[in-house]
Amino acid sequence: MASASQTTAYDAVRPRSWWAQALPVWIGLGGFGLYATYRAFENAYFFAAPYLSPFYSPLIDPQHRYWHFSPALLILGGPLGFRATCYYYRKAYYRAFFLDPAGCAVPERTGNYGGETRFPFILQNLHRYFMYLAAIFLIFLWHDAVQAFFFADGFGVGVGTLVLLVNVVLLTLYSCSCHSLRHLAGGKLDCFSCVNFGGPRHSTWKNLSFLNEHHMLFAWMSLCSVGFADFYVRLVSSGAIKDLRLL
Ligand code: FES
Repeated sequence: MASASQTTAYDAVRPRSWWAQALPVWIGLGGFGLYATYRAFENAYFFAAPYLSPFYSPLIDPQHRYWHFSPALLILGGPLGFRATCYYYRKAYYRAFFLDPAGCAVPERTGNYGGETRFPFILQNLHRYFMYLAAIFLIFLWHDAVQAFFFADGFGVGVGTLVLLVNVVLLTLYSCSCHSLRHLAGGKLDCFSCVNFGGPRHSTWKNLSFLNEHHMLFAWMSLCSVGFADFYVRLVSSGAIKDLRLL
C-alpha cells in the first residue's frame, strides 16, 4: 500500500504527465491515418513486380471497368474496421483523442457518456466479425508474400520480398493475439474437459494467451510494418529507389 507521502507525490505528478502516454498515440495513429488516407486515394504506385502494396491487396478491378475510384477504397473497410474496433486501439484512442478519460487517475469528463452501450460506440462490438474478415485478408497477404519470391526471371529474394514477408508475419501475430480470437478458442469456457475437443482447445487457448499478452506490441509493430511495406513498394514503383536483389 502506498504511504501518505507516496500518494502525495503521485498526485503531484499525475495531472501534469497524463499526456506523455497520449503523445505517441497522437503521433503514431494520427500519422498513420494521414499517410494511409493519402495512399488510399492516390491510386498509383501500388505495384512493382513482384511486389503488391498491402494497402491495395487484394487488388480488385485495377483497370477500372466497374469501379472508377482507387481500388484501395474497395478493401479499406476490412483492415480499418479490424484496427478501429481492436480492444487495445480503443483504449489508446479513447484516451488520446477523446480524452475521456485522458489517462489513469485523470477524472472523466462529465456528461451523458454511455460507453459502448449506445450508438455509435455500440458498433465496437462488431470486432469479432472484423476478425473473421481480417483472416481472409491475411490469406491474400500471405499469397502476396509468396508471390514476392517470383520475379520475371524466376525464383529470387529482394529487399521487397523480405519487407512483405516480415509485414505478413507481424500482421499474423497481431491477428493471432486478438482478444476475440482467444475468447473464441477457449477464453469463454469454464471447463475445457467438459466440451468436445477440450484438449486441443486448451492448448490453442494457452498459446493464444501467450501471444495475447503482447498484443499491444504486435499492434504497433504491425502498424509500422504495413505502413513501411506500402511506402517501400511506392518508392520502388515510382522509380525513387531500385529494389536490391539479394538472391
Ligand atoms: S483485440 Fe486487438 S485485434 Fe482483436
